[in-house]
Amino acid sequence: MKFAARSPGPLVLRRLPETWEPAVFRHITLTPCAPTLGAQVDGVDLSRALDREVFAELDRALLEWKVLFFREQPLSEAAHAAFAERWGPLFDDQLVPTHRDNSVENVVVFERNAETVGLENGWHCDGTFRPEPPMGTVLRAIEVPALGGDTLFADMAAAYDNLPEELQEAVEERVAVHDWSLGAYSGKYADRLDELRAEVPPVEQPVVRRHPLTGRKTLFVNRFFTREILGLPREEGDALLARLCAQAEIPELQCRFRWRPGSIAFWDNQAVQHYGANDYWPERRVMARASIAHRHARE
Ligand code: OGA
Ligand code: MN
Repeated sequence: MKFAARSPGPLVLRRLPETWEPAVFRHITLTPCAPTLGAQVDGVDLSRALDREVFAELDRALLEWKVLFFREQPLSEAAHAAFAERWGPLFDDQLVPTHRDNSVENVVVFERNAETVGLENGWHCDGTFRPEPPMGTVLRAIEVPALGGDTLFADMAAAYDNLPEELQEAVEERVAVHDWSLGAYSGKYADRLDELRAEVPPVEQPVVRRHPLTGRKTLFVNRFFTREILGLPREEGDALLARLCAQAEIPELQCRFRWRPGSIAFWDNQAVQHYGANDYWPERRVMARASIAHRHARE
């Protein structure tokens, strides 16, 4: 099968599920970055415990905007963990847990520099090789290069909406295999590949997944971890996979965040893919990440 290439012209830019009215926020101020995703949030101090109303507004804002940005929030690791934990239990998303002295459990600090080269510059969704990929990630900048090292986000519900109808139909019930050892990600575990492959084996995920809270159909394949689409001749499956992954690369479905020390991005990993630009090597960039395993049961 040949898949129609995308043609120029306006896109479907639907931000909310069809049945949702945009919420009115009373405790926070939102400044949108792009038509369907990304909003900067002001008026909240993340170093303090969030009261119930503020938490509810942030949660609603996350579902509506898919990624929230905060400025001037130089959190301690403990405060970073406490903020992320309001949504759900944290876990260390590395295959081999990171151990550092004086660290807060499950807040992973990672440094990129001349020797430790960043490999985040591919479109991906975190941890789709796990049976239950993380619900979201809170990423905080500690030290950033003078220029470069932005993070880009792509709206994967909009990515689905903008597929030609025949492709939407072609992927409706499809299932794909996700495998952490597929690409560059496996490099850092090269000496233990077989052992870790046995521990974290490939998993099947739907190609289109309904977001559990917004109900929106969301394209759920990515170049980092999706190995193949099942049930199609290999060549056709690979061509389909490439066509689907390319949806994350449509600029109108993206937003881009320029970091400063103390900036935070909180993304809904069930709604977006992300891409860490690597245009700053060999400079230093230090970030801290808290991955949220799944949502707390709703109160
Ligand atoms: C991540 C990631 C991108 C970045 O932390 O999962 O992909 O810009 N980060 O650091
Ligand atoms: Mn990532």
